[in-house]
Amino acid sequence: AHTVTRNTDGVLTVGGVDVAALAEEHGTPAYILDEADFRERARAWRTAFGADADVFYAGKAFLSRAVVRWLHEEGLNLDVCSGGELATALSAGMPADRIAFHGNNKSVDEIHRAIDAGVGRIVLDSFQEIVRVAHVAQSLGKRQRVQIRITVGVEAHTHEFIATAHEDQKFGIPLAGGQAAEAVRRALQLDGLELIGLHSHIGSQIFDMSGFEVAAHRVVGLLKDIRDEHGVELPEIDLGGGLGIAYTSDDDPREPHEIAKALTEIVTRECEGARLRTPRISVEPGRAIVGPTAFTLYEVGTIKPLDGLRTYVSVDGGMSDNIRTALYDAEYSVALVSRTSDAEPMLARVVGKHCESGDIVVKDAFLPSDLAPGDLIAVPATGAYCRSMASNYNHVLRPPVVAVREGESRVIVRRETEEDLLRLDVG
Ligand code: LLP
Repeated sequence: AHTVTRNTDGVLTVGGVDVAALAEEHGTPAYILDEADFRERARAWRTAFGADADVFYAGKAFLSRAVVRWLHEEGLNLDVCSGGELATALSAGMPADRIAFHGNNKSVDEIHRAIDAGVGRIVLDSFQEIVRVAHVAQSLGKRQRVQIRITVGVEAHTHEFIATAHEDQKFGIPLAGGQAAEAVRRALQLDGLELIGLHSHIGSQIFDMSGFEVAAHRVVGLLKDIRDEHGVELPEIDLGGGLGIAYTSDDDPREPHEIAKALTEIVTRECEGARLRTPRISVEPGRAIVGPTAFTLYEVGTIKPLDGLRTYVSVDGGMSDNIRTALYDAEYSVALVSRTSDAEPMLARVVGKHCESGDIVVKDAFLPSDLAPGDLIAVPATGAYCRSMASNYNHVLRPPVVAVREGESRVIVRRETEEDLLRLDVG
């Protein structure tokens, strides 16, 4: 849990550091990440799943070398989905055999680097990739452990862009029409591959466990077909990530131990029904670990009341540090954190500094009506998919990630500089 309080001046403190001091030292906007909270959440997942299962943190949610070290120390594995994430993981000392490599279009070069490094598994996402990975593994004189990602045909109840198991989307090999069974057939024939299991990821920011039930039922169904056809019981099943977090008080997420219990029960029950040995389960939470551990600290720049509508509050960042509101209609909350206020609440919209009217950070929020330029405000739950999806739109510099712990703050990803930007310009 967060160590968030207010000091005697009403200034919010997190991890023992007050936000005014953080703004002074590191500037704004900045992502402030509570290291103890991150470690606690990672550990809770690890403990909940126990020794008979594996937890792969999904690096796409947020990755840096410090995070890789924390995960390593807390006994988690890591899911990467690009050469860049792989390089970050390896450079921070994550043992390669604890890395899973994902993606629907890994390049031959990425596949080569992953196999050469000795990654624990590659998740195969297409027929072409089955052949490609087998080929590269053989050329390196290796046999690569792989899973096949299955599209189970579930409609996860989440935003269209982050649902991934319905049929009409780009990920995985469909169960429908016998395609997944055919993929297994081919993978089993290739010397360069050791097929260790099946993979399913149904989407993201999900609260309802019924999608996982259907997915597990269908994946186990295929495991049974594989046993019947080939006489092999694949030893592993990965149910992906996707567990939702609380962005606003309307969201009611489940604890890792409840999720672990539910998923283990579902898989065990399905396997008993199919008379299969229960495979080793793995999961890939990203958002549920890092999402709640960070908030974005902004300074208020301008305040524009529009009669009868709302007040537009402009901050020093925006869609370049949090694209989720614009992209998914995501909901966030916001709070005044540099002081307390007893003033009447006003209906506000927190917007950024970009040249676009869709540049909204928090669509509808109440802030005190005495809000003034220079006040610091915080948007919670920005640990996942904010820094990792940040852009340089309008040549705005990407904010730093500052970790706080026991009264100290430490930059784990530094603020971008204009020099960084200009370095890419040629001529
Ligand atoms: N495993 C696989 C194969 C995935 O594709 C993903 C997320 C995860 C695990 C982790 O999902 P999580 O536990 O973090 O929900 N940019 C979107 C989310 C995209 C998720 C992509 N895949 C957002 O900001 O909501």
